Amino acid sequence: MKALILSGGKGTRLRPLTYTGAKQLVPVANKPILWYCIESIVAAGITDIGIIISPETGEEVKTKTGNGDRFGAKIEYILQAEPLGLAHAVKIAQPFLGDDSFIMFLGDNLIESQLEKFLANFQQKQLDALILLRQVADPTAFGVATVDESGKVLQLVEKPKNPASNLALVGVYFFKNTIHTAISQIAPSARGELEITDAIQKLIDTDKNVAASELEGWWLDTGKKDDILAANQIVLDARLKSKNLGEVDADSNISGRVEIGVGSKVTNCKIRGPVVIGENCHLEHAYIGPYTSISDRVTIIDTDIEHSVILNDTNITGIHQRIVDSVLGQRVKMQVSPKRPQALRFLVGDDSQLEIM
Ligand code: TTP
Repeated sequence: MKALILSGGKGTRLRPLTYTGAKQLVPVANKPILWYCIESIVAAGITDIGIIISPETGEEVKTKTGNGDRFGAKIEYILQAEPLGLAHAVKIAQPFLGDDSFIMFLGDNLIESQLEKFLANFQQKQLDALILLRQVADPTAFGVATVDESGKVLQLVEKPKNPASNLALVGVYFFKNTIHTAISQIAPSARGELEITDAIQKLIDTDKNVAASELEGWWLDTGKKDDILAANQIVLDARLKSKNLGEVDADSNISGRVEIGVGSKVTNCKIRGPVVIGENCHLEHAYIGPYTSISDRVTIIDTDIEHSVILNDTNITGIHQRIVDSVLGQRVKMQVSPKRPQALRFLVGDDSQLEIM
């Protein structure tokens, strides 16, 4: 059994963050989303992992994630020259996958549930494919499945206008090697992608065994800013433990679960957990409210922040207002200027979103 994680793609919905970085490396509770996928695969006993990367962000993914040693796994990187679809990613990974069965995991998905019981179900029933489903309010944005009472999948449709059910495909799949033949028999869809839903439909149409299991617990597809904030909140709630490896002065007040990394200095601040603060940060006269994740080397002075994700090397000084529900990228500078006339002055990249009252 092997695993294939998809960490290519365009990431258009998370621009501008994805102009300079991979969306799978955006941190949730200060850990890249991709690493949660790797950890849950390794926890299920699978250590032979292929990761699909793109020419734009592949080097960053490789450098940050490494050869797998840190996870107790062996990672091989597979370059997909263009994001031509999920089934295309499987196609180019065939030399790595060989005849093995494999888990396919979309590298921007987070699930609470462990993979073991699904893996056991897939193996015991000798299925050709096992898909995971989840009830959603608006199925038109997802691949949607129709399933009979026994859990057998009857039909799959990608982003249907009139969905036959509210069961969406979660970005985790289990496949036997029969998927490769199915992929060789499909053509690109109207949007020009080789769709994994079409390949699974091909398995169904050729009487292969395709079953579904409903996922319990949370599932987050971190395609947009609010998904990142929701994932951050859930993971901080579920997994954060208090730990202080930095320096907190006597004038600071810390309550709830707060993790502070090595080399970080907290002076005259109020911090209400759950909050995680990375390494070598400088926080002074600031309020950091619940559900905030601050990456490494961030400076926050005279500013209040709550329910936000701040990426590394960002500097926020003297805002004297509360920043909420925000995701700030790497190396952002936000400060109050003494210059006249008093006015807002920006240097803001493409696709940024600012809300000013
Ligand atoms: P998506 O989120 O569907 O696609 P995307 O990354 O292009 O994002 P957006 O819609 O915001 O433009 O892809 C799901 C996951 O699969 C994601 O981690 C990227 C990855 N992927 C590939 O590795 N190769 C591909 O050809 C495609 C389409 C996606």
